[in-house]
Amino acid sequence: MRTLIRGGTVVNSGGPFPADVLVDGETIAAVAAPGLFTDADTVIDATGRYVLPGGIDAHTHMEMPFGGTSSSDTFATGTAAAAWGGTTTIIDFAVQAKGASLLATLDRWHEKAGGHCAVDYSFHMIVSDVNDTSLKEMESCVAAGVNSFKMFMAYPGVFYATDGEILRAMTKARETGAMVMMHAENGIAIDQLVAQALADGRTDPVHHSLTRPPELEGEATHRAIALAAVTGAPLYIVHLSSRHALDAVTAARDSGQNVFAETCPQYLFLSIEDMARPDFEGAKFVCSPPLRPADHQLDLWRGLRTNDLSVVSTDHCPFCFAGQKELGRGDFSRIPNGMPGVEHRMDLLHQGVVRGEISLSRWVEISATTPARMFGLYPRKGVVAPGSDADLVVYDPTATQVLSAATHHMNVDYSAYEGMELVGRVETVLSRGSVVVADGAFHGREGHGRFLDRDLCQYLR
Ligand code: URP
Ligand code: ZN
Ligand code: ZN
Repeated sequence: MRTLIRGGTVVNSGGPFPADVLVDGETIAAVAAPGLFTDADTVIDATGRYVLPGGIDAHTHMEMPFGGTSSSDTFATGTAAAAWGGTTTIIDFAVQAKGASLLATLDRWHEKAGGHCAVDYSFHMIVSDVNDTSLKEMESCVAAGVNSFKMFMAYPGVFYATDGEILRAMTKARETGAMVMMHAENGIAIDQLVAQALADGRTDPVHHSLTRPPELEGEATHRAIALAAVTGAPLYIVHLSSRHALDAVTAARDSGQNVFAETCPQYLFLSIEDMARPDFEGAKFVCSPPLRPADHQLDLWRGLRTNDLSVVSTDHCPFCFAGQKELGRGDFSRIPNGMPGVEHRMDLLHQGVVRGEISLSRWVEISATTPARMFGLYPRKGVVAPGSDADLVVYDPTATQVLSAATHHMNVDYSAYEGMELVGRVETVLSRGSVVVADGAFHGREGHGRFLDRDLCQYLR
């Protein structure tokens, strides 16, 4: 089965160029001068469109147990929504419970995702119980293609790791070539601020942000960087939200340390003002780290331009407003932390191109190419090139759309971007050569997505 995508502008991280893309089976057979190929079983007209490598969302949480409930997208619904938005690979998190083995956890997540994903997927591992066994098991995880381990400086009593535990895990990461991913917020101090706020009767959702000030993200980021420097481990700061944390990452990178960071669309487009919406609506925006005052956004866009922020992932972790976010009425600390977003990352970042914040090629780099290199998937993913998987997005840069819960495909009853008008729209999506979205309809299949056994971080070798 040969598919020809004809007449478009291919956009790779190296820049845009006019080219036709020939797909043979599951892979890209050729990227050729326009008009060179005419013979194919199917022709997709991409005139006036971009042809992009499928997006890679390196941070999602499908059906994740959290706060006494579970995120509302399953691997089936969440990966279908990802495909609608031009994301053809997700890297989700297997979550080690206290006392559980890492390998049993990995098996459990394979059971959850296997046969259900519409697009390709992989896993990071959340390490919440550092002990001799789990440290040894990190080696087996790396051998099984899961070579990135998320740790938490937040959430005491749940996922929290002490500095000593982090040091031990980083030492093992250094030995195995693995990456430590860090949720960098000072959870011990935050818990005190939360207790004080509740005791004072400050219970509305906005206090979620006010009790997690950016100084405590900056401090934890700095501390994580110091621990990484001492152990020699590479470090990837997840969901960076503030200039305080960005300053720490920038200083580390300038000194030559292997420190990387991602931010998320919610920190680029939303702010603490959204958390202060009346009638408990602010609960829709509760995530950690929290939304910040809007002036942080300028610094985050700058960080994306200077490559101090290398990746944009969504941290997609949806909870319905009805029945889930509502668990925290009268006590913001009981609102499940997380926001939906897997469907809109590519479109929202395209607004950065429209507004002149980032270039066209940088858009592709932060949403596909760098995540592929960072997490050992390049050049199989993240580039439109011969031999790569035919994960392709035909993108109309002039179409307009309005985001809404009424039209999105994520299994969640609200949109964090309700009513936002966007320029640009995903038109056609191929996953390993199969059309999954076209003509405003879903043509994908639950179970089409395959597990991706990942190589080590390609910036370190
Ligand atoms: O609020 C968030 N970010 N929820 C998802 C879990 C995490 O910390 O990434
Ligand atoms: Zn986190
Ligand atoms: Zn997360």
